[in-house]
Amino acid sequence: MPSVAEHYERVLSPVYSWMVGGVEAALAAGKAEIEGLALDLPAGALVADLGAGFGMHAIPLARAGARVVAVDSSTQLLGELSRLAAGLTVTTVQDDLLSFRSHLQEKATAIFCMGDTLTHLPEHTNVDFLVQEAAEALAPDGHFVLSFRDYTETLQDVRRFIPVRGDERRILMCFLEYEEDTVVVNDVLHERRGDAWDTNVSSYRKLRLSPERVMGSLESFGFEARQEPGARGMARIVARLR
Ligand SMILES: C[S@@+](CC[C@H](N)C(=O)[O-])C[C@H]1O[C@@H](n2cnc3c(N)ncnc32)[C@H](O)[C@@H]1O
Repeated sequence: MPSVAEHYERVLSPVYSWMVGGVEAALAAGKAEIEGLALDLPAGALVADLGAGFGMHAIPLARAGARVVAVDSSTQLLGELSRLAAGLTVTTVQDDLLSFRSHLQEKATAIFCMGDTLTHLPEHTNVDFLVQEAAEALAPDGHFVLSFRDYTETLQDVRRFIPVRGDERRILMCFLEYEEDTVVVNDVLHERRGDAWDTNVSSYRKLRLSPERVMGSLESFGFEARQEPGARGMARIVARLR
């Protein structure tokens, strides 16, 4: 099975901004989500965005005055982010997000890991490691904000087929296969080429992560955390370092 990075390169990175409704709509949604959090982010605050993608949150954060370190494994998405970030204080870093601390020269005011990035980690223990690293990387009272999908319910039969997005040029569907701790996501992308359709299929694994487990991990590493509904049906956890 392809790695997460290979899967993004093969299927998702080229269509990611389309998949989430287009760049402008996604940046507006990211801005609204950040404003809704009402975090105290003074001008010049250092913020890390882990698995930043094309910058759905990194760009609005930088436009609000933060210095953003955006970490992602996808060259293509980071290229898109760099173009969108022209004139803004955003440092793009191509690396595994688990190594994010080595790219911060000072304590951060906030760390974001949004849009279901957390479930892309290979092992459940990586989540605890990331929480521990976030606790080390944040200044006192700093915030760690996470949003991710809860795949703990085993969907049955036709509910395992998820239509992600479709228009006259493209259709993206995914089919879920459940394992004990993980779910295999099979993405099927149809793209119109002239009067025919090209089909591209690739699969990758995601963690079946319950919000309660992530809350427990955050609390054990010194955060106080609240859980709330996030964007696009995701769970969101807002944690503050005590
Ligand atoms: C579902 S997307 C979310 C992107 C963005 N945060 C958003 O809300 O639109 C997940 C992102 O995480 C990146 N990613 C997944 N695993 C990663 C890892 N271990 N290290 C760095 N980036 C990773 C992918 O390349 C992708 O851009």
